[in-house]
Amino acid sequence: MSDLQFTRTEAPRLSREEREAILNDPGFGSHFTDHMVSIVWTKGEGWHNAEVIPYGPIPMDPAASVLHYGQEIFEGLKAYRRPDGSIVTFRPEANAQRLNDSARRLALPEIPEELFIKAIHELVTIDADWVPSGADQSLYLRPFMIADESFLGVRAAERARFLIIASPAGPYFTGGVKPVSIWLSEDHARAGRGGTGAAKCGGNYAASLLPQQVAAENGCQQVLFTDSATDDTIDELGGMNLFLVRSDGTLVTPQLNGNILDGITRRSLIQLAKDRGHAVEQREVTVSEWREGVAQGTITEAFACGTAAVITPIRQLKSTDFTIDVGDAAPGELTMSLREELTGMQFGFVEDRHGWLDVIVPAAELVR
Ligand code: PLP
Ligand code: COI
Repeated sequence: MSDLQFTRTEAPRLSREEREAILNDPGFGSHFTDHMVSIVWTKGEGWHNAEVIPYGPIPMDPAASVLHYGQEIFEGLKAYRRPDGSIVTFRPEANAQRLNDSARRLALPEIPEELFIKAIHELVTIDADWVPSGADQSLYLRPFMIADESFLGVRAAERARFLIIASPAGPYFTGGVKPVSIWLSEDHARAGRGGTGAAKCGGNYAASLLPQQVAAENGCQQVLFTDSATDDTIDELGGMNLFLVRSDGTLVTPQLNGNILDGITRRSLIQLAKDRGHAVEQREVTVSEWREGVAQGTITEAFACGTAAVITPIRQLKSTDFTIDVGDAAPGELTMSLREELTGMQFGFVEDRHGWLDVIVPAAELVR
């Protein structure tokens, strides 16, 4: 654990009644807990001033670099409550490492992995009552880093701030694990060679919002991006990775080509599928292959995966010219069984055989 000591402001922001009303129906991304973490970085002093403070607005100079040049990165992970009341997170060190990969690409400072983990522990411990216990509910944690130096010259900022906020969450898509439709973005790209596609930075999401609007206008819940060089090679969805399942049980997913996010859910599912003896191909995957595979019956399932979306079955891919219907409207069998295994591990119903869970609040420490 890091040597940097946190100062804590303990007082809750909301009453118990207010919290319980939110936890009854948290939705996704609209409600926030009592506290947040803040740690400051300057070029001269490095990381300092680690605090757990009441959740609320942050002071920001209008000349802060993030507001002008978009120097921002973020992460997403969840805290889960297990049946014995204990609280765990899933592979948080992978989020710390990916945040630092993003930091390098965006010319932001790296944060020591143990400080990242300590900050998660601080926040989840103080806001433990905010971790919901309902089915498919969790506390979504959003670590992020912004450049907040007041300077309009275009260069890497010499002052940054790392924050973590937390939001009780139900399913990302309303309707639970109902299969979703996705829209093929033909006019807009999210990433290109040498760009920031593999980094988790706000700018990638800004670029995805207009195509996401087009997707919604066409009755789709997510947008699928292809490589702008080929318009056929599949990259990923606006906020999730993509898998196809072949009739022989092989999983196929786009390789990490520099344009797509190295999803922790993607990585975990590859491992779980291999553990079961499934072949997993990480390679170039095309829309044409998907279309032909469905027509010939060799591609039988498709799903999206990510921390927020967990595993969400895909029922169709739509574009201006065609619609690919994957299977029938029911979720795929392998999709659902992998979902059950992964969520089973996270929620404590399935053995954590890979050591992926980080226990934050053990059952014994809970005062109930
Ligand atoms: N791809 C994008 C663009 C994302 O925003 C996310 C979500 O974080 C993912 C993939 C899935 O990554 P992970 O499984 O680590 O949440
Ligand atoms: C996540 O899954 O954590 C993301 O950042 C994706 C976003 C759609 C919420």
